[in-house]
Amino acid sequence: MDTQVGIVGGGPAGLMLSHLLHLQGIESVIVEARSRERLETEVRAGVLEQNTVDLLRETGVGDRMDREGAVHHGIELRFDGQGHRIPLSDLTGGCEIVLYGQHEVVKDLIGTRLDAGARIVFEAEAVGLRDIESRKPTIRYRHDGEDHELRCDFVAGCDGYHGVSRPSIPAEERTEYDQKYPFGWFGILAEASPSSDELIYTLHERGFALISTRSAKVQRMYFQCDPNDDAESWSDEQIWEELQTRTETHDGFTLNEGPIIEKSVVGMRSFAVEPMQYGRLYLAGDAAHIVTPTGAKGMNLAVRDVSTLAQALTAWYEKGQTKLLDDYSNTCLKRVWKTQRFSWWMTSMLHSFHDDEGFQHNLQLAELDYVTSSQAAATSLAENYVGMVFDE
Ligand code: DHB
Repeated sequence: MDTQVGIVGGGPAGLMLSHLLHLQGIESVIVEARSRERLETEVRAGVLEQNTVDLLRETGVGDRMDREGAVHHGIELRFDGQGHRIPLSDLTGGCEIVLYGQHEVVKDLIGTRLDAGARIVFEAEAVGLRDIESRKPTIRYRHDGEDHELRCDFVAGCDGYHGVSRPSIPAEERTEYDQKYPFGWFGILAEASPSSDELIYTLHERGFALISTRSAKVQRMYFQCDPNDDAESWSDEQIWEELQTRTETHDGFTLNEGPIIEKSVVGMRSFAVEPMQYGRLYLAGDAAHIVTPTGAKGMNLAVRDVSTLAQALTAWYEKGQTKLLDDYSNTCLKRVWKTQRFSWWMTSMLHSFHDDEGFQHNLQLAELDYVTSSQAAATSLAENYVGMVFDE
């Protein structure tokens, strides 16, 4: 089988790339290890920044997001038992964020691609890439117990941190940056009514907590935990006690409780590879970088990668231009490092490091005080959070 662009991975990056290419008349095939059902139900993050929202709308996949997603104009930073609002829209000339689960975006993209006749091979494990330095690279994959090959002009490696794409770049040709953190996030979904109209990011002596939402009936919450914790070893009572303690305020905040329908522990790391391209292989999304979740940037960054890649491939197919393809890695990496910086900064401001006698904690409180009292500092947070500053 042949195609123009072979895409390894059918998460948000791979699907969005396939969609953008299709709109430019460029054919692609997606090879994805997971089942369609798993992709459409897997619980992931849920904040879409303005750029992502605009792109989904402009390319015709924003209808359900507009109906079911919740538009937010601010976030709250909470510390010392008090909440402080960061008015994102006021500080950014009207930019907003939309709360809409990543798997919902994936569901919308899969539906749109399949309706347009796309080939997505689900439950097909990519086992390797061949000839990526040539003009006809090949994706090798296993599907239904048989080996297959997909020959294409370009390969987009959208197969996440553990995929085959990144290791296909010879080790001596790539540099990897990896930061681990001494904590993880305990994430839950609970059947409860919302406790707040906007997201709450809180620093408490016991650690970070985040109150987010999915709908009027289902709430998403996280709290800092030991990265080696087993989610099942925490009882529901313990989880609520931890969340209640960390979100308490002096003026009596009520955190609504309800049955916990999902719980998991995610590790925390920052990772980046340079370059993001080798031969005719282009990496995008988690295959190339992981940011800490505190800035809510993971999927948004992936969408920006593939938007850059789709433009570059379009210039190549339409006009034979190679400049945008040649620039792909540098263009993306500039943005990746800005996003790493913001995500790292939010993480270091809002988590307990438990590694000193309170010096760090006092610095964090001073930082939070500054960010919530200086308009300049609040604007800096806001323009990063809504994603205004990544393509300047
Ligand atoms: C959510 C996840 C994040 O990482 C974040 O910073 C904010 C919200 C969420 O899943 O809703």
